[in-house]
Amino acid sequence: MRLEGKVAIVTGAANGIGKRTARLFAAEGAAVVVGDVQDELGQAVVERIRGDGGMAIYVHADILKEDDLRGLVAAAVETYGRLDILMNNAQVSRGTTAVETSAEQFDLGMDGIPRATFLASKYAIPEMIRAGGGSIICVASVHGLLAARRSITYEVGKSALANLCRQITVDFGPHGIRANVICPGAIQSRLEDDDPSPNTARIRYGQEMYPSRRLGWPRDIAYAALFFASDESAWVTGQVLAVDGGLTSQLQDDLAHRLAQYLKQHPEDLAEL
Ligand SMILES: NC(=O)c1ccc[n+]([C@@H]2O[C@H](COP(=O)([O-])OP(=O)(O)OC[C@H]3O[C@@H](n4cnc5c(N)ncnc54)[C@H](O)[C@@H]3O)[C@@H](O)[C@H]2O)c1
Repeated sequence: MRLEGKVAIVTGAANGIGKRTARLFAAEGAAVVVGDVQDELGQAVVERIRGDGGMAIYVHADILKEDDLRGLVAAAVETYGRLDILMNNAQVSRGTTAVETSAEQFDLGMDGIPRATFLASKYAIPEMIRAGGGSIICVASVHGLLAARRSITYEVGKSALANLCRQITVDFGPHGIRANVICPGAIQSRLEDDDPSPNTARIRYGQEMYPSRRLGWPRDIAYAALFFASDESAWVTGQVLAVDGGLTSQLQDDLAHRLAQYLKQHPEDLAEL
């Protein structure tokens, strides 16, 4: 019960990483506010948490809408009397290269990643200060650390979260507010923990890229979030943690060599990729 007595908001918690984290936070004693735009799925997460003996409510909250984010924070405080944890998990972005991406697509990515995170934090921080302190957890990505092809808005938006958290740390650390970033590698976010991974060439090739030789499960991110949410990380703030099975630890020439070897041994996969 590492979160006993605490109240947590998780955005985008109807599926994937957010859903698994909401369930873990509730299992650890937190009252959880599940925010999402997929109302039926969000409500189903709440039913599952309650069925497991936890506390949760669902709130329709579109992270692109300031009023919804204000309402999400208000619902937490009205229902449970306080707010201790905010996990900025949902994101919205579109875009390809710097040349092909429209200004509107770029703006959408900035709205759907840094602006949404900023706004949720803006409304959460005063409530957390009233509660005696709090923890903001931002889900970025390995794409916030390095760049992949044709993803300009996602890469720029996710990389902004590190300095957003540092800024919150500098401004509100004295009030007991902490803010940290998790950068996941590829997560099989639509599978339940330990479901067998689909045995496709794409998955096999993907697993080969990771020093851990597997892709991530939603629980890999949920447990990192639990550390940042709990008082065990009371002196950890402004930090960026890659939870990526070692993906960003390996040199690119080493990776290229390994994948070339793999494709030599599995030429049948090459045809499918
Ligand atoms: N899955 C991965 O491999 C991976 C890797 C790195 C980072 N991430 C990050 O993790 C986070 C969660 O990803 P996931 O894979 O669990 O996603 P997912 O698609 O499984 O779930 C995302 C949830 O966000 C909700 N959502 C979408 N638009 C929304 C909006 N406007 N307002 C509120 N909620 C909205 C969806 O309804 C959905 O329930 C994202 O920020 C993503 O960028 C995922």
